[in-house]
Amino acid sequence: MTAATPDGTPLAPSAPETTISAVTGDDERAVVALWEAAGLTRPWNDPSADLRAALSTPTSTVLGARTPEGGLVGTVMVGYDGHRGWVYYLAVDESSRGAGLGRALMVAAEAWLVAEGAPKVQLMVRETNTAVLGFYAALGYSDQACVVLGRRTD
Ligand SMILES: CC(C)(COP(=O)(O)OP(=O)(O)OC[C@H]1O[C@@H](n2cnc3c(N)ncnc32)[C@H](O)[C@@H]1OP(=O)(O)O)[C@@H](O)C(=O)NCCC(=O)NCCS
Repeated sequence: MTAATPDGTPLAPSAPETTISAVTGDDERAVVALWEAAGLTRPWNDPSADLRAALSTPTSTVLGARTPEGGLVGTVMVGYDGHRGWVYYLAVDESSRGAGLGRALMVAAEAWLVAEGAPKVQLMVRETNTAVLGFYAALGYSDQACVVLGRRTD
């Protein structure tokens, strides 16, 4: 895969056939299907609305990894809130896992957030998703010893 920034700059050489760039509204069905298959959706979140909001906000986007045929095999949502860079909806299609694509998406996410000005990248992992903790540890992410509080406002 050739991991690349949205302007096409290569970031990490591995399997040469996959490229990473921002998705568009035309990708909505493929993106949502990938998120659902990866177990990232929840009944109280509308993934289509989440995608549209990220794409229509100047300091956020969704990066997608594509095969040469254009098939979407991975995503990551990034957003800079003016203080920290945040990562959401990291997903790799099950048949493409274990080949470095998740790492390449995180490298691309970090590059995008650094370019926005974010001095630190953070993400939240659901307590039930213990399987992914080793992945993030392999990328240098560590527990920030914070409790995340939230309240819906919609
Ligand atoms: C997490 C996920 C994106 C990883 O994608 P992937 O393409 O399989 O990951 P990579 O092949 O790039 O792995 C990168 C590194 O993490 C390691 N790794 C991957 N999964 C791991 C796990 N469960 N435990 C420990 N290490 C793991 C790999 O061995 C690799 O290490 P290396 O680069 O030193 O060899 C993928 O498993 C996925 O989509 N999971 C479901 C969705 C999800 O949970 N998303 C995160 C929400 S917070």
